Amino acid sequence: MTDTVHISVPGRVNLIGDHTDYTGGLVMPMTLDMYTTVSGTRAIEPRWLLTSHDEREPVSISLPVNNPAHVEPLWGRYVAGVLSELNKLGIDIPGFTGEINTTLPIGSGLSSSAALEVAIARAALDIANRQMSDTDIALLCQRAEHIASGVPCGIMDQLCVAIGKPNTATLIDCHSLDVQHVAIPDEIEVVTRFVSHRTLVGSEYSERVEDCRQVEAIIGPLRLATINDLQKITDQRLLQRARHVITENQRVRDFAAALSQKDFASAGRLMLASHHSLANDYETSNDQMNRAVQDMMREPGFLGARMTGGGFGGCIVGLRRH
Ligand code: GLA
Repeated sequence: MTDTVHISVPGRVNLIGDHTDYTGGLVMPMTLDMYTTVSGTRAIEPRWLLTSHDEREPVSISLPVNNPAHVEPLWGRYVAGVLSELNKLGIDIPGFTGEINTTLPIGSGLSSSAALEVAIARAALDIANRQMSDTDIALLCQRAEHIASGVPCGIMDQLCVAIGKPNTATLIDCHSLDVQHVAIPDEIEVVTRFVSHRTLVGSEYSERVEDCRQVEAIIGPLRLATINDLQKITDQRLLQRARHVITENQRVRDFAAALSQKDFASAGRLMLASHHSLANDYETSNDQMNRAVQDMMREPGFLGARMTGGGFGGCIVGLRRH
């Protein structure tokens, strides 16, 4: 039985494949060299007491958790969401006293919340002396995120941070949850750059998920759709959303092939095309992000750049030749 835990989980940046995960499409994120760490010890009281270096207020959660969405302060909802999901599986979690440290910028679209959730899940499983596969941990944490934040996110962030390897892209089929680890070739590097803080809570993220649901009611599963299916959609907004998802899934396939053939120029072009599709058809970028992408492309060595993650702010990612 483990009494003391020290668990680190990385953040992620998405190379290509945004707003495709919640319709079971393809994504290609990779983990970052920035981590959220949970350290602490098992407690006798049935209560989780956590402090965080980045948050003013500590979190105190009595077990079993009643309503994670009502926990204060807000960051405690992610913790409570995870504990409550574990409890639903009949896993009896002991009390815990500990602290959270992170080198990830919070609220910047680099999956600081997924890293926190996965770290909490692993810490809780350790002190409960229970095992769970990385995929099941990711699915549990996705459910926790839905409950804690109300954002109907896909599986990309939780699965990438749970299963990813350093300096390696994670090609995920978000329907089958098959994962392929693809090493980043030595000739190139991935550059992540902060643009602005953002939160998906209360953003248009949920509206995009709903748009996709409406598209699927017309043409069936987006992950199986082709460009020809667009003819069946008359509503302009839904047409744009569908066009983004269908073309983005293809771009992920082409990007993975380009990387393996060391065709870096094509990989860069695909990233730029992804950005334009997100900006114009999916409308999840903004002027600041578009300018940041243009500025990056003017710097020497950059082959491609795009907004990354949910959008409406956050970070951009670029591919640079060494
Ligand atoms: C957020 C969500 C993910 C995914 C991206 C967009 O990061 O948490 O599930 O939908 O946005 O690709």
